Amino acid sequence: MRICLATRNTHKIEEIKHQLSMIEWTSLDVIECEDELPETYTTIAENSAQKALFIWNNYQENCLSDDSGLEVEALNGKPGVDSAHYSGERDAEKNIDLLLKNLAPFENKKARFVTVLTLVIDGKIHQFEGEIKGTIIKERKGKNGFGYDPIFVPENHSTTFAEMTLEQKNVLSHRSNALKKLQDFLDKNE
Ligand code: IMP
Repeated sequence: MRICLATRNTHKIEEIKHQLSMIEWTSLDVIECEDELPETYTTIAENSAQKALFIWNNYQENCLSDDSGLEVEALNGKPGVDSAHYSGERDAEKNIDLLLKNLAPFENKKARFVTVLTLVIDGKIHQFEGEIKGTIIKERKGKNGFGYDPIFVPENHSTTFAEMTLEQKNVLSHRSNALKKLQDFLDKNE
């Protein structure tokens, strides 16, 4: 079965393909989709479904979308669904700067990453959620990964996601936890 990966985020694509390498992946380019995928809802789960259903409805392709975000406890779950453009721009450096500034007055640095994957097969929708708890550190560490990886240290670890290799991040991450559920689903429905 061919599944279109409904994202243009090269880091997400790399992480997903690395973990589920047995799937015959296709891409937005291959299906000749040049549209901006809509994300107009107020929750990660709804935005994830919206992106996958957009592809199914317009291209009739089985597909997988990923919507994710970072929820910081002291900031009442923000940036959450706004993670990609928290600073008002799709700019990871500015997003991190604003997050560190807003979090500075608080002792509580607890946060979690969450991903909701949406798989659409023959028009039927299946969702898989994954999370990883951790803490936000005061200064960036590491160069790998993307987004908020340089300031997020997963629970029971001492390095940020950005200091880890792709393999190390993929054992732990919110995305990999959701992908494991997706893998179980595919195994049971072969
Ligand atoms: P989305 O494209 O709407 O799902 O935006 C997700 C945003 O959440 C990204 O742009 C990042 O800012 C953040 N994010 C999601 N997953 C990760 C991750 O694995 N590492 C770091 N940041 C992430």
